[in-house]
Amino acid sequence: MSNISTSKAESILIVGAGAFGLSTALELTSRGYTNITVLDRYSPPVPDGSSVDVSRVIRTEYADPVYSQMAQEALQGWKSEYKDHYHHTGFAMLSETASNPYIKKTLEIVHDQGRVLDEFVDGNGLKQPYPDIRADFSSLRAYHNREGGWADAEGSIRLLGHRCSQAGVSFVTGPRGTVRSLRKRGSRVVGVDVLSGDFLPAAHIILSIGAWSNLLLDLTHAASASGQPVGFIQLSPQEAHSISRTPVMINLTSGIFCFPPTPGTNILKVARHSYGFATTLATEGSDQTVSSPKRDANNADKSFLPDEADQALRDGLRQLVPQFAERPWSNCRLCWYTDTPEGDFVIDFHPTLDGVFIATGGAGQ
Ligand SMILES: *[C@@H]1O[C@H](CO)[C@@H](O)[C@H](O)[C@H]1NC(C)=O
Ligand SMILES: *[C@@H]1O[C@H](CO)[C@@H](O)[C@H](O)[C@H]1NC(C)=O
Repeated sequence: MSNISTSKAESILIVGAGAFGLSTALELTSRGYTNITVLDRYSPPVPDGSSVDVSRVIRTEYADPVYSQMAQEALQGWKSEYKDHYHHTGFAMLSETASNPYIKKTLEIVHDQGRVLDEFVDGNGLKQPYPDIRADFSSLRAYHNREGGWADAEGSIRLLGHRCSQAGVSFVTGPRGTVRSLRKRGSRVVGVDVLSGDFLPAAHIILSIGAWSNLLLDLTHAASASGQPVGFIQLSPQEAHSISRTPVMINLTSGIFCFPPTPGTNILKVARHSYGFATTLATEGSDQTVSSPKRDANNADKSFLPDEADQALRDGLRQLVPQFAERPWSNCRLCWYTDTPEGDFVIDFHPTLDGVFIATGGAGQ
């Protein structure tokens, strides 16, 4: 809200109660804005939002100096304000080749920033810091960061939503908070039409709706949404204990990654960070279709995975956690990503629509 003269009492509607929307709302309150309303289909933690699940990787090494720096700053927040939701387990990257371009670039940046990663030419070297690893990593290279681990995404979003409420942010959810379309007057967006009740006017609208972005605004090639597979396996407390001393592990050759079991629920989670699956949904009031999760259903409900994806997660588990690889899924689904051409966030005023600010593309580097 810096390039426009905004009275701090003007109304700001934030569509989307995920990490981008809520953190923007909280920041605006701290800068003195007083009329902020967050809209979403569900109250946060939004069950199918990309910011919500049992876990999200927290790591500080990226193949880009800006994100690498941001991640280090964020880690300080995880270790202080959000420490109850942060699990410091360490993070390991595995690769079949030493010449993986992502790893090369990442190491360069980490070294430039004066940091070190442990590098193992024989991946089994990981078994020293992590004695619960059973897999054979001898044909792989491994890179290990003692910093990092994972966060309880749902718990931390709940805390963030709570902090927003306490700071005076209003929430509207359910059909009244479900945006169908932007209401325009000339080149200016003056509010939103919702599923139930009157149109909601606003001086400024911030769209932070992640994978749903293209349903409301045609972002063409700036951001595209696809679902990537994730599977969950229920372990017994003893089984979970037997692999508690393992890090978050990703095989960069396949994109398969898995988390240590979640304390309390003992759920083992495996996912793929690679290519996903698109959908075709009609957009409101036009005959255009876009790839997006559904608007009027909970996309996190138990669902099936395409055979190829199911197989890939199984193969990944056989390589990373072989002892539990044949267990049935207790749940599996697609996790929605919003990919941008370079993996960058898209955070800016809309180039042609006045009154609209966009924050999307959080799917990662
Ligand atoms: C906030 O803005 C809305 C929309 O313009 C307006 O109806 C409402 O009265 C405002 N609330 C306050 C407390 O100023
Ligand atoms: C990593 O992925 C590659 C490609 O799918 C696979 O050949 C290799 O066995 C995997 N290794 C581990 C330890 O996951």
